[in-house]
This record gives sequence, C-alpha cells and structure tokens, in this order.
Amino acid sequence: MSNNSRPYLFVIAILLALFGFYNYVVYNTDGYVAVEKLSPAAVNGQQLFQSNRCWSCHQLYGSGGYLGPDLTNIYSAEGKGPNYIKAFLNSGVKSMPQFNFSEEEKDALVEYLKRVDETGIYPNYDAEIEATGWVKIKYKNEK
Ligand code: HEC
Repeated sequence: MSNNSRPYLFVIAILLALFGFYNYVVYNTDGYVAVEKLSPAAVNGQQLFQSNRCWSCHQLYGSGGYLGPDLTNIYSAEGKGPNYIKAFLNSGVKSMPQFNFSEEEKDALVEYLKRVDETGIYPNYDAEIEATGWVKIKYKNEK
C-alpha cells in the first residue's frame, strides 16, 4: 500500500467512529417507545382481526392489504363508529366476505379498533424528523 492511502484510512476511521457514536445515541434514547396495555376484550379483538385475515384487505396505520379501506380511525370517523363497524362484519358487502361473528366477538373487534383509533392518526402528516434521526409523530392521546 502506498503512503497516499493514509489520509483515506484516517477519514474512514473518523466515519466509523461517527457511525458508532450515532448508533450508540439512537439505541440508547428511550424517548418514543409507546406502551399500550390492551384490555382482554381488545386482545381478543386483535386475535380475531388476525385469525380472520382482516389484514389481507385492510390497513391499520397504513400497513396491510389494499382491497378495502384503512381502518385506523374508523372508530372516530364522522358518520362511522361502533354500530357502523358492526354492521359491516356479518353482512358481506362487495368483496368483503360475510363473517359469522357473535355479539361478543363483534364487541371485541370494535374494542380493538377503538384502541387502535386512540393511538394513531392515519394518514399522519404531523411528523418531525429530529437531529438524532428519530421521527416524532403526534399521538392522539398525547396531551
Ligand atoms: C377479502 C377482503 C376483505 C376482508 C378479508 C375483510 N374486508 Fe372489510 N372491507 C372490504 C372491502 C372491499 C370494504 C369496502 C366495502 C364498501 O365500501 O362497500 C370493506 C369494508 C369494511 C369496513 C367499513 C370501512 C369503511 O370505512 O367504510 C369495516 C369496518 C371492515 N371492512 C372491517 C373488516 C374486518 C374487521 C375484517 C376482518 C374480520 C374485514 N373487514 C375483512 C374487504 C375485506
């Protein structure tokens, strides 16, 4: 190796050090970990949501399948809400399959969607990128 490569090695060493420092900062900042405890009914609703593959057609927080609409804020959307959600579940509208949920299961799904609605806004345009690289979004239940 010629002496000419020395400055590059120096630059690479500095970049590696910065990379290490950046990772240390990012992984040791515990600022934005949102912890939500779900009620037993909401957990049941979440399991029903997964086992009946609602995900394959619907999105929560923008992720999921795209045959049906995003359900993040359906609980609080104007003109929608609990009864509206329940009405869809066993009726088989358009390409949505007709399910056969009991009242208790419908309540559980509504409870789950209520908790989802409380924690997120989708689409969320109110996001800030901070100097550390974290993206801070506004949560609905944040005072
Ligand atoms: C095969 C695809 C598919 C699956 C699986 C599916 N849906 Fe749907 N869903 C749809 C489509 C398409 C619509 C839109 C129907 C319309 O606009 O008339 C819809 C509409 C809805 C709506 C009303 C949305 C709105 O904003 O008006 C709710 C609530 C809903 N689905 C809940 C569920 C739940 C809960 C599950 C799982 C138990 C589920 N869906 C499974 C396709 C699906």
